[in-house]
This record gives sequence, C-alpha cells and structure tokens, in this order.
Amino acid sequence: MSRIDGATVGAERRTRSAEATEALGAGLAPALRVGDVVVLSGPLGAGKTRFVAGLARGLGAPSRVRSPAFTLVNEYGGPVPLAHLDLYRIDPGEAHGLGLDELAARAAVVAEWGERLPSEWRAEALVITIAPGDGDTRDFAACAERGRGLELLAAWNALGAEDA
Ligand SMILES: Nc1ncnc2c1ncn2[C@@H]1O[C@H](COP(=O)(O)OP(=O)(O)OP(=O)(O)O)[C@@H](O)[C@H]1O
Ligand SMILES: [Mg+2]
Repeated sequence: MSRIDGATVGAERRTRSAEATEALGAGLAPALRVGDVVVLSGPLGAGKTRFVAGLARGLGAPSRVRSPAFTLVNEYGGPVPLAHLDLYRIDPGEAHGLGLDELAARAAVVAEWGERLPSEWRAEALVITIAPGDGDTRDFAACAERGRGLELLAAWNALGAEDA
C-alpha cells in the first residue's frame, strides 16, 4: 500500500455490472462494526446506492435499500445496524445537525457524498471513490488515514477481486 498526503491507498477494484458492485459491498460488510464510517464519493449514478445495498445485504439487513436523498438518513436493522446517509442536498456545515454522534453510537455509518461530512467524521473513515468508465464499468479506489479506517482498508484489500 502506498501513502499519499497522510492517507494510505488501498487496492483498486473494477466492477462491470451493478450486481458486481453490490457483491463488492456485501463482501466488505462483515468487517463493519458499530461506529465505523464509510465515505462514498462519486458522481450521480456512479453506483453508491448500489454499493450500500450490498453492505446492507452483507449485514443481513432485511429491508430494501433506497436512496435517502430526501430523508437524508435511512437505518437498516440487523446485528450490526447500518445508517445510510445521502448528503447530496446538504449545505456545507449543515452536516453538523444530522445527529451523527447518535447514529454512530448505534450503527455503522455509510454516507453517499460523504466528502461533505465534517472532517472529524472523515478522519477515521474508509473512503471509497467510484469512477464510472465506459458502459457499466466502475473503478473503485479506497483509502484511509487512521484507526478503524485503516482496519477497514485492510479488509477491503483482502476481498477477492470482483472483476466481473
Ligand atoms: N458496475 C456498476 N455498478 C453500479 N451500478 C451500475 C454499474 N453499471 C451500471 N450501473 C447502473 O448505474 C446506476 C447506479 O445507480 P446508483 O443509484 O447506485 O448511483 P448513485 O451513485 O447512488 O447515484 P446518486 O448520486 O444519484 O445517488 C444504476 O442504474 C445501475 O444499474
Ligand atoms: Mg445514491
């Protein structure tokens, strides 16, 4: 793993279908614990929600994953509950009012447009950036700076290549 600007950069992954993106999320899910933060970055339609659907499935959450674009946060129950944020419509600074402390006390937190989270919430996050390529190709880059983020990055690196 290489380090850039204090961040450790993990393995790159590529998917070629929405199903493969969901499988990637499901593969990472068992590594998640209450209090973890996963930041998802990438343009509209990159596959962030689809990746979250995989996380929820991998955590055994029974409910269907939908974008929480209007509600800002959806919560999925399970042994490790998942709090799913979408910060697309949030104004800078407004994320402080989301009650992140309470969410992180009871759930693993995954945030679409998570680069809009306050910096203290990103410090120990696993940061996954999705770049759309030709057609259904999506390239995933992962990095982390410290703490649980680095542990999740190690789990990410240990995933089987989903290049499917
Ligand atoms: N490899 C892939 N991975 C994920 N989604 C894919 C892939 N190839 C095609 N798709 C399609 O791209 C779309 C991804 O939608 P999704 O809602 O997950 O994106 P998003 O990043 O959450 O967008 P938004 O920023 O609007 O929330 C879906 O229609 C999905 O079927
Ligand atoms: Mg989405």
